[in-house]
Amino acid sequence: MQNQVENVRLEALKAIEAASDLESLQQVRIQYLGKKGSVQGLMSLMRDLSKEEKPAFGAQVNACKEAISAAVEQKQAELAKKAMNARLENEKIDITLSGDRFQIGTQHPLMLIQREIEDLFLGMGYTIAEGPEVELDHYNFELANIPKDHPARDMQDTFYIDPNTLLRTHTTAMQMRELEKAKGRVPIKLICPGKVYRRDDDDATHSHQFMQMEGLVVGEKITLADLKGTLTYMADTIFGGGRQVRFRPSYFPFTEPSVEVDVSCPFCNGKGCSVCKHSGWIEILGAGMVHPHVLEINGFDAEKYSGFAFGVGLERVTMLKYGIDDIRNFYTNDLRFLKMFDRYD
Ligand code: DAH
Repeated sequence: MQNQVENVRLEALKAIEAASDLESLQQVRIQYLGKKGSVQGLMSLMRDLSKEEKPAFGAQVNACKEAISAAVEQKQAELAKKAMNARLENEKIDITLSGDRFQIGTQHPLMLIQREIEDLFLGMGYTIAEGPEVELDHYNFELANIPKDHPARDMQDTFYIDPNTLLRTHTTAMQMRELEKAKGRVPIKLICPGKVYRRDDDDATHSHQFMQMEGLVVGEKITLADLKGTLTYMADTIFGGGRQVRFRPSYFPFTEPSVEVDVSCPFCNGKGCSVCKHSGWIEILGAGMVHPHVLEINGFDAEKYSGFAFGVGLERVTMLKYGIDDIRNFYTNDLRFLKMFDRYD
C-alpha cells in the first residue's frame, strides 16, 4: 500500500514535469488532486486499514498530496513566466518605426467667433435660442413688421419654398418666435446664432448663405444707451479693447429708431486706413429699439416695456478680425485656409 502511494507520487511528479503548458498542467492537477483524482483514491484505501495503521498511512498520503501540490505550483509559476516571456517576445513593438499621422481638425473661424460672442453674452446672463432655417413667412416677415409689398420680400432676395415657407433671410425670424413665445412676459435677454439665406450672387463680399447672430433684450426702461454699452462691450471682445461705437440713423421695419452701428477701425485705431476707407470707422451691424408695434402684436405692453435688438453678420466681423478678404473662403473648405486657425483653438 505504501508503494502505491509512492507510485502515485512519482507518476504525478513525472506528469507535472512533462506538462508543456498551463492547460495540460491543469489537467494533471485535476487527475491527481481533483475530487475524483488519484490522491483521493488513496484516501479511500483507509477504509481497509486497522485503526493503528490509519495515522501513518494518512500522514503518508498527506505528504504525497503536499509534494504534488508544491510541484504543481512550482511548475505553474515556471509555465506562467514562460508564457509571459513568449508574449513579450511576440508583442514587441519597434518604437523606431514612424507612426501614422492623424489629421486633427481645427475649429472653423466662424465657429470661433460664434463661440466667443456666445461666451460673452452667456457671461452677461443671456440665453441662446436656436430655430429653424426653413421658416414661415409669418415669422420672417409678417411679425417683423415687413408688409407684403416691402422690397425685402422681393423674389430676388428670398428663397421661397412655397408662398408661405422660405429659407429665413435673417435671424430676426427667431427674434419674432421668441417674442411670441414669451407672451408678453419680461425680461427677455437672448441671442440667436444661425445660418440665413439670400438670393445673392456670390462674390468676395456676398454669399447666398451666411451666418448672423441676433440679440434681443426686452424689459422695463431699456434704452438705446443699454444697446450702445452692450455693443461697445461686444466690439471690445471681438476686436480688442478700447473700441468705440457710433450710431448712424437707419431704417429697419422692426425697430424704431433704427441704427447702423460702426466700430472704430481696429486696424488703424480710428486714424484712417485702407480697410476703413480712411474714415476711421467700420460698419458692423444693424440694430435699434424694438418697434412698439412688434411688441404690441406679441402681447407686450409697449407703454411699460421697451427693448433693443441687433443683428450682426458673423462673416463680416470674422473677415475684419482676421483680415480675410473673400467671404467664399469660409465655404470652399480649403485646408490651407482652415489650418490657419488652429492656433486660436
Ligand atoms: N435683420 C437685419 C438684417 O438682416 C439685421 C437687424 C437689424 C437685426 C436691426 C435686428 C435689428 O435685430 O434690430 O439685415
